[in-house]
Amino acid sequence: MGRFTDKIVIVTGGTRGIGKACAELFAQEGAQVAICGRDATTAAEAAQAIGPNVKGYGCDISDSAAVDAFIGDVSKDLGAPWALVNNAGITRDGLLMRLKDEQWHEVIKTNLDSIFYLCRATARGMLKQRQGRIINMSSIIGIRGQAGQSNYAAAKAGIIGFSKAYAQEVASRNITVNVIAPGFIETDMTAALGENAMESIVEKVPMKRAGQAMEVAHAVAYLASEEAGYITGTVLSIDGGLGI
Ligand code: NAI
Repeated sequence: MGRFTDKIVIVTGGTRGIGKACAELFAQEGAQVAICGRDATTAAEAAQAIGPNVKGYGCDISDSAAVDAFIGDVSKDLGAPWALVNNAGITRDGLLMRLKDEQWHEVIKTNLDSIFYLCRATARGMLKQRQGRIINMSSIIGIRGQAGQSNYAAAKAGIIGFSKAYAQEVASRNITVNVIAPGFIETDMTAALGENAMESIVEKVPMKRAGQAMEVAHAVAYLASEEAGYITGTVLSIDGGLGI
């Protein structure tokens, strides 16, 4: 028996990176896991590779109607979710004076608007059950900013304010809302930075190494567990000391 036996857990962007590690861990611990990616076939293949209790869905989380349809399908197929992990996110970096409208809006829509859509779409089911766990993926960049990432920093900081507000709305119903702020984690997203940039970031990390996706997943699983029932509205940094 795992911590999540008979529990339904949704992980957005579970096809790779941190989201995939979360889906793997939840599945190992007995959950019925729903993951989503923009492409339904990729999501279904990724789900199949993780395990038999994982189901993949196509959903562009920046699209409000698509999110409603996704949550409707998950509820029909599996039932009302116990936990929602808002993990999916993108970067479209650039210095502000050269940043295009599309780069700004794409990041805000995908990283911030999506969290509103997903929390709203799952609210009814969680409120009815009078229980639930929501974990929203911010970033160290949402706390301290980063040149070339004004769009990403705005979205990730927005997630923190959003989560603290929503936590207060649903606390009396035993629904917790918490934020994870990873530092520098080895995934496809950070591999895109190139080896030199990665080495110079690692140099600044007090622990002198990048984090692993599974290290983030373990913290997500804790916040999603029954045991974390009295923790809400917090921001948990997982950054090897980078944010100290
Ligand atoms: P990744 O790029 O490896 O994976 C992102 C996932 O999100 C993929 O599964 C992708 O299909 C999905 N996704 C992107 N846009 C989507 C959309 N519109 N609809 C549905 N799915 C979509 O990223 P990684 O590194 O695993 O990051 C996961 C989360 O952690 C992101 O929110 C990211 O901002 C955050 N984070 C990552 C850090 C890192 O060092 N890797 C550091 C701090 C935060």
